[in-house]
Amino acid sequence: MSSHTTGSAGEPAGPRPMSLEEIRDSYADCAPWMDRFDWLERRLTGRYRRELFGDASGRVLDVACGNGVNFPYLPSDVDLVGIDISPEMLSSARDRLGDLEVDGTVRRMDAQDLAFDDDSFDTVISSLSTCTFPDPVAALEEMDRVCRPGGRILLFEHGRSDVGPIARFQDRFADVHYASAGCRWNQEPLELVLRTGLPVREAETRALGILTLIEARPSQESIVDTIRARLSTLAG
Ligand SMILES: C[S@@+](CC[C@H](N)C(=O)[O-])C[C@H]1O[C@@H](n2cnc3c(N)ncnc32)[C@H](O)[C@@H]1O
Repeated sequence: MSSHTTGSAGEPAGPRPMSLEEIRDSYADCAPWMDRFDWLERRLTGRYRRELFGDASGRVLDVACGNGVNFPYLPSDVDLVGIDISPEMLSSARDRLGDLEVDGTVRRMDAQDLAFDDDSFDTVISSLSTCTFPDPVAALEEMDRVCRPGGRILLFEHGRSDVGPIARFQDRFADVHYASAGCRWNQEPLELVLRTGLPVREAETRALGILTLIEARPSQESIVDTIRARLSTLAG
């Protein structure tokens, strides 16, 4: 009998989370493909990235930035730091930074153990990443820690569809997909964020419920920060 557990919504699929080394190695293989099909990724998801990240501001951290696919959607005046575990993905991200007029650096780092001070970023963004972190709650807690009170945590994630037959297909093949791609495609991103204790300001799903756009606040934010942030949004 297989030792695999069946992936149910919100729970990790597969027999055990892949180690950081396994994930790093699998993305070393993926990096050339992701570069080659970058145009397709941008055509399919670019509008959501622009919608969510287009008004990021200040010092911005892109967690698990991959090949830097989010960078073109950020305002050109941000001070950008991208981190990822894969040197191959970071090499493409570095090239992309060079092509864009964005101030920034990229660094190799584990999202679950960020080497940044508390409250050191105005905006923390991450895309299509929580599905692959060995411990996604630990990574979200780190995003929370480094985001300053009054700052924003913006997440563009994929997960279990709202459409029954698609969700059942995802559930049925969750273990196989995790074993081959290191991706938990039937997890519920919003559930993870709520489990981490981040206050969610907005969450919307797209593409048959497979994509989720989330705007959260750091958990230590005071009520005064929340009101101030709300007023500044209303003031445009
Ligand atoms: C599916 S890719 C997404 C990349 C990019 N954010 C995007 O939207 O296309 C997942 C990325 O997460 C990175 N990653 C996985 N686990 C990580 C960890 N613990 N710390 C940092 N990066 C990690 C991988 O190297 C890979 O670049």
